[in-house]
Amino acid sequence: MVNVAILGFGTVGSGVAEVLTTNGGLIDRRVDDLVRLKYIVDVRDFPDSPYKDLFVKDFAVIENDPELDIVVETIGGAKVALDFTIRALKAGKSVVTSNKELVATHGCELLRLARDNGCSYLFEASVGGGIPILRPLGSCLAANQLEQITGILNGTTNYILTRMIRAGLTFDQALAEAQANGYAEKDPTADVDGHDACRKICILASLAFGRHVHPDQVPTQGVRGVTLADADYAASADYKIKLLGRCLRRPEGKVCAFVAPHLVSGDNPLSGVEDVFNAIAVTGNAIGDVMFYGRGAGKLPTASAVVADVIDIAKDLKKDRHNGWEEGAPDLVVSADSLVSPWYVRAQISADQARQRFGEVQLLARGGAPAGETAFLTAPMTEPEIRGKLAGLEADSLFRVLA
Ligand code: NDP
Ligand code: HSE
Repeated sequence: MVNVAILGFGTVGSGVAEVLTTNGGLIDRRVDDLVRLKYIVDVRDFPDSPYKDLFVKDFAVIENDPELDIVVETIGGAKVALDFTIRALKAGKSVVTSNKELVATHGCELLRLARDNGCSYLFEASVGGGIPILRPLGSCLAANQLEQITGILNGTTNYILTRMIRAGLTFDQALAEAQANGYAEKDPTADVDGHDACRKICILASLAFGRHVHPDQVPTQGVRGVTLADADYAASADYKIKLLGRCLRRPEGKVCAFVAPHLVSGDNPLSGVEDVFNAIAVTGNAIGDVMFYGRGAGKLPTASAVVADVIDIAKDLKKDRHNGWEEGAPDLVVSADSLVSPWYVRAQISADQARQRFGEVQLLARGGAPAGETAFLTAPMTEPEIRGKLAGLEADSLFRVLA
């Protein structure tokens, strides 16, 4: 018998209980043992829940139960979740989580703690919701030197952008829908301001390049500056606006990582990723380009990834999974200043002035554009170059373009 506890019975935690119950028979067969939900910990009471007999309030019950094998942490945040995770690992219990904030900030030390205590720390659900991405990166792509990863990593903002453009919803209406669907973080500014995508690109970069990339090291811009006017201009040239998390291998073991809205060409499969879906494009030196796609948030898709980790551990409780990375360093992450790309600019200038400043540009059009507003795509250049050309001119919008 393999006994499991869930910490945090919210969107994801309740989904984990549901999947463990609904698919219990096939999970037992795949593990070749009985996998049983033994405890649930939450600050709230759930007197009407079918699992009401499993609720305990005191984490020490779990910590001190010698028959409890796997702790699923779906509380979120890096405070009580960190405390419970450390205590569980020190007690020799493997931990599975969907908590990207915790992994992105403390992953390196928690992975080491797991190894030191003969247990595992797995977090497939922390990036891309239900999409299998971390295990493929670490195993199916293990033969490659990974060169870069580009992803639509936040379901909430992709959902908001899609609903604003397709259904004409306001930003606030679209966000309210995302919250009602259980996609958003407890504090949705983490989604809107790009911090959630930042945490995910940190986890991907740490796994891909083998050293801890900390969220503080990653320049992050969210979607607040994206307007429907920008979306219209972009659409006129077959581009979509997407919030991308990107990381690239740089010389001498350095990493470049950042999060920002981009105009994505209609020729790039990332441009067709809509709604709550996420997609992660990975480039390796042997495989070339490969892309992972699926639901990036939501109760059951996320629970699918969590329970997959539970099954992996339950099959072999004491296996050393070697799924870690080394410590980072203050100079590990370098700026994106040398990265060359075309740029999208929207500013209060004439087309002639745009050409004078930026050289050959591709002018964009939209219905109802106010007089004096011009939007265009530049030739490829670096960020310092475009900022130099902008000198003295405040752009209303300035986004990189991804071909
Ligand atoms: P929820 O807020 O829905 O669930 C968290 C639960 O934990 C709530 O029931 C909360 O209670 C409870 N809780 C808070 N403090 C404690 C505590 N001290 N002890 C026990 N329980 C506690 O969050 P989600 O399920 O949406 O997310 C959980 C984690 O999964 C987060 O890290 C999130 O980023 C991540 N995630 C979420 C996805 C999603 O689609 N929602 C997808 C992928 C990852 P209360 O509400 O009363 O505070
Ligand atoms: N809030 C996150 C998102 C949940 O919208 O992508 C999944 O990690």
